[in-house]
Amino acid sequence: MAERTIVEYPHPALRRRCAEVTSFDATLATLLDDMRETMDKANGIGLAANQVAVPLRAFTMVIPGASEDDPGEFVELVNPVIVGKRGEVRNEEGCLSFPELYEAVLRAAEVDVQYDDRNGVAHRRTFAQIAAVCVQHEIDHLDGVTFVDRLSPLKRRLALRAFQRAQLARQVEAAEDRRAAVRGRA
Ligand code: CO
Repeated sequence: MAERTIVEYPHPALRRRCAEVTSFDATLATLLDDMRETMDKANGIGLAANQVAVPLRAFTMVIPGASEDDPGEFVELVNPVIVGKRGEVRNEEGCLSFPELYEAVLRAAEVDVQYDDRNGVAHRRTFAQIAAVCVQHEIDHLDGVTFVDRLSPLKRRLALRAFQRAQLARQVEAAEDRRAAVRGRA
């Protein structure tokens, strides 16, 4: 397994509608293994393939456990399609492609999903609560939609402005760290 680079907004990979997976081969298995490692290292609970710049319809996710010491259940969904939705829930969401940005988004409280596993075998499963929110957030990614797109125009503008300001500050800080490292070597 290998960790991959997570792309941040406004990377164009986040805007692309991903293609159906048709080859359930070793390349797909490696991608899913790498996504799991990348998601775990970033302390995320969901990661879509286009967040590592691979435009395929697949995501990895952790269904949170019942208690603090329950690590939860790891799942991977290929070609996921929501076939049923019930209820509403408003939840504070974050995204590995928008570090440090959290916004409340309205989603269905429960979703029925059809999907394939890594071997191309079809499944159907119902997800609720945080897992349902996560599934909707990740399937949005596969359609080129981010959680910021689910905000009102005003909230979206404010959120993106705050995010880009913080992102710029992080980039300046990283550049200063690199310069300091170069001086250290001289
Ligand atoms: Co996300």
